[in-house]
Amino acid sequence: MITPFQALACPLDGAPLIPAGAAWRCASGHSFDIAAQGHTHLLPVQQKRSRDPGDSKEMVSARRRFLETGVYAPIAAAVSRAVLDAGTADRPLACLDAGCGEGYYLRSLAGAAEAAGQDLAVLGLDISKWAVLAAAKQERRMGWVVGSNANLPVLPATLDRLLCLFGFPVYPEFARVLRPGGLLIQVDAGPDHLRELREVIYPVLKPERPLNHTPPPGFALDGQDSVRYTTDLQGAALIADLLLMTPHLFRATAEGRARAAALTALRVTVDVRLTRYRRG
Ligand SMILES: C[S@@+](CC[C@H](N)C(=O)[O-])C[C@H]1O[C@@H](n2cnc3c(N)ncnc32)[C@H](O)[C@@H]1O
Ligand SMILES: [Zn+2]
Repeated sequence: MITPFQALACPLDGAPLIPAGAAWRCASGHSFDIAAQGHTHLLPVQQKRSRDPGDSKEMVSARRRFLETGVYAPIAAAVSRAVLDAGTADRPLACLDAGCGEGYYLRSLAGAAEAAGQDLAVLGLDISKWAVLAAAKQERRMGWVVGSNANLPVLPATLDRLLCLFGFPVYPEFARVLRPGGLLIQVDAGPDHLRELREVIYPVLKPERPLNHTPPPGFALDGQDSVRYTTDLQGAALIADLLLMTPHLFRATAEGRARAAALTALRVTVDVRLTRYRRG
């Protein structure tokens, strides 16, 4: 069974949040309304760096359309394996996706967990209200919150798995919320990821920064896999969506963007690293 993760913490003082009708409330009386779509805003205004932080509505829609085509399904399958192969439990595994976007990887994980007979208690968190709204609309069985990785609204040592997929890791926070023995599963772009697209939009490719896999404080390296394949992107709309959901659109020159907009098909390499860190 897939259920919402319940061990939420007040983003203002860290106290446990208790469900109270259509809101979450802490003992000091801070109250956070649950929206009609089922998600909760747990990002206080003083913790926001901008008025509308994170991915825009357009980026979220582009990512949803792109992921729905299944082009990244092998990445989702690798993430689900990493979550479930590390050991099943006779209680629900508590899972957080920190920077969940519109929830594609959690929906895929739910399917894999059901097939494996593993119960999950799930929370998807993103700083973008557009991403969380899109996620909540598509899947009612999970908990969804607008919040920040810099101040996770989660009680200490309550999670078995924490996903950070193409995201922005804040390791001290991840260490705080994972149980001892819990796993941090991180996915990052590898050196050849979308190389052919980058060759179209940039005059010269920047040398890749080597991926750093030194375990963060409080973690030990549990293992690493590479997910690598080529895929044919058909149609200008799909290529435009891919460009919109990556940072490349903002970094490209006008000429680079025009070259990408003229494409109607492109064979690209998908090259990502999945790293597992275990909380000590
Ligand atoms: C490249 S997207 C990846 C989304 C999703 N993990 C996926 O792969 O489909 C990065 C996401 O991180 C979110 N984000 C950015 N800063 C964040 C923060 N401080 N805390 C939580 N999420 C953040 C963005 O809104 C965006 O949805
Ligand atoms: Zn409070």
